Amino acid sequence: MIQSEKMSALGNLVAGIAHEMNNPVGFISASLKQAKPSFIDIIEHLKLYQESFTPNQKIINHTNEIDLSYCIEDFFKMLDSMIVACDRIISISNSLRTFSRSDRDYKQPFNLHEGIDITILILKHRLKANDKRPAITVFKKYGDLPQVECFPGQINQVFMNILANAIDALDASNTERIFAEITANPNRITITTLAAERQVKIIIDDNGVGMSEEVKQHIFDHLFTTKGVNQGTGLGLAIAKQIICDNHNGQIDCLSIPREGTKFVITLPISA
Ligand SMILES: Nc1ncnc2c1ncn2[C@@H]1O[C@H](COP(=O)(O)OP(=O)(O)OP(=O)(O)O)[C@@H](O)[C@H]1O
Ligand SMILES: [Mg+2]
Repeated sequence: MIQSEKMSALGNLVAGIAHEMNNPVGFISASLKQAKPSFIDIIEHLKLYQESFTPNQKIINHTNEIDLSYCIEDFFKMLDSMIVACDRIISISNSLRTFSRSDRDYKQPFNLHEGIDITILILKHRLKANDKRPAITVFKKYGDLPQVECFPGQINQVFMNILANAIDALDASNTERIFAEITANPNRITITTLAAERQVKIIIDDNGVGMSEEVKQHIFDHLFTTKGVNQGTGLGLAIAKQIICDNHNGQIDCLSIPREGTKFVITLPISA
């Protein structure tokens, strides 16, 4: 119960933000697209003036001062970059909606790489550099994956829980290291995907604190956490296990070495 509440709260938040972004961005995008032909018209009009009138000294000076031909050329380029940037925001917003879409009651084909990419995007603020450490690098080693029949919202939630844990483990590994030490042996997360006969594997690997054999025995237990009161509830992996094993007939395994890192291997059948 708590698990689905936790996810739907995040899903609603993300969907809400994506929705709120859509109107203003749509307006900017439409205006920019209209701005270009309007600007072309204004330039045409300016040319008519230039053809019909001999400019006085004041106009000549001003033309040189502002470098008119450069201004015109540059303005077109600016408009084009703004249009590209706007399209990028629109595609991010669409991705966020894909991430937070509520699952139907039947499984559907899903591109897992899309789910991983969106999750990384949502976690971007936690990956970027801060005053204690450089940015965490995420290496993607994507194989050639077929679409997988699944509940996409749930699978995204699993990616989110495992990647958030990896970031926590990396941050924990930094507590006793200074910036220069971290730079010498940087934080990284590697995501490998591969397809075997009837199944796919997603391997998420971090070089964070790792865990003892004893901790490893309990990570999938409901409410098991080694984190502080406000940092962990001990639900992430219990939810992940339920989603992968019970809801998708898959498997989730963990390999970990203290002070070296942790690897989670998710195995999913391609067809439900
Ligand atoms: N990548 C990892 N490296 C080291 N330890 C990990 C890693 N992932 C999980 N753990 C250990 O497993 C425990 C359980 O993880 P889980 O995600 O279920 O709960 P949590 O992260 O503590 O809290 P929540 O996810 O509910 O916010 C963690 O407290 C941590 O000790
Ligand atoms: Mg967690």
